[in-house]
Amino acid sequence: MTKIIDGKEISRIIRAEQKKKVEILVENTGIVPGLAVILVGEDPASQSYVRSKRRACKKMGVSSHDFNFAPDISEQELLDLINILNEDPEIHGILVQLPLPKHIDDNKILLAISPDKDVDGFHPQSLGKLVIGMETFFSCTPFGIIKLLEYSNIEIEGKHVCIVGRSNIVGKPMANLLLRKDKTGNATVTVCHSRTKDISYHTKQADIVIAAIGKPEFITADMIKDNAIVIDVGINRVNDPEAERGYKLVGDVDYSEVSKKTSFITPVPGGVGPMTITMLMYNTILSATRFAEKKKMEK
Ligand code: GUN
Repeated sequence: MTKIIDGKEISRIIRAEQKKKVEILVENTGIVPGLAVILVGEDPASQSYVRSKRRACKKMGVSSHDFNFAPDISEQELLDLINILNEDPEIHGILVQLPLPKHIDDNKILLAISPDKDVDGFHPQSLGKLVIGMETFFSCTPFGIIKLLEYSNIEIEGKHVCIVGRSNIVGKPMANLLLRKDKTGNATVTVCHSRTKDISYHTKQADIVIAAIGKPEFITADMIKDNAIVIDVGINRVNDPEAERGYKLVGDVDYSEVSKKTSFITPVPGGVGPMTITMLMYNTILSATRFAEKKKMEK
């Protein structure tokens, strides 16, 4: 029988620990962690993610500074806002929800965010530090996956992990986290993508498969070896006339068949999803703590 990795429960444990950290920080220093959450446009999925992020802030005692813009905001206006937020001592994290409208260059915006406030871990400096093993902010979804494995007592060291998907948000930082020389790294990593010749050949060799391709139920049972561990990052909306909302959420993994072969698997929803927001809170609280320590040193 496969074990289901309960992302909601692991999130609850981490959020409770982090909420305590906020209380102690506020009591000792008067500093309330502050997160700027910037949303451009009206993409329903982005709106839903941002709502959840803002709700999480409230529950954790993190102050959420909300910015919503019409899709026609100019790149310069957005850059001007980020420059102001970079200097604002009440803001410890800046999150720009991606994707941005086509006329705005994502990379230009991400580059403008101060690395000290890059709680999404998307700035090239954060990613570079991750690659060479320096302290930085880790991207929230890959970091959340490491925590899911850690809390499930799954050893990573020496395992063969196959990541399907090479995005800047998940695949690439995930591969580099798993390669780090520490106990939640030291894995042997394969990264597959849309141009990989025979994805199934690679996934079948892996002890752990991480699916992050954004294709509903792409990973099928024949692609997985017996007793593998499967982590599903996908959240795909597929039409479902029987559902009240007209759609249902499915992952990148054919859960009903794949789960018959695995030793551990994450469900969708309730697996990786809640961890992304939890690790965003974690990074924001870490940033506020670093800010408080820096302030103390300056005194
Ligand atoms: N779009 C999809 N996932 C993410 C995320 O983790 N952070 C941001 N900022 N945008 C996203």
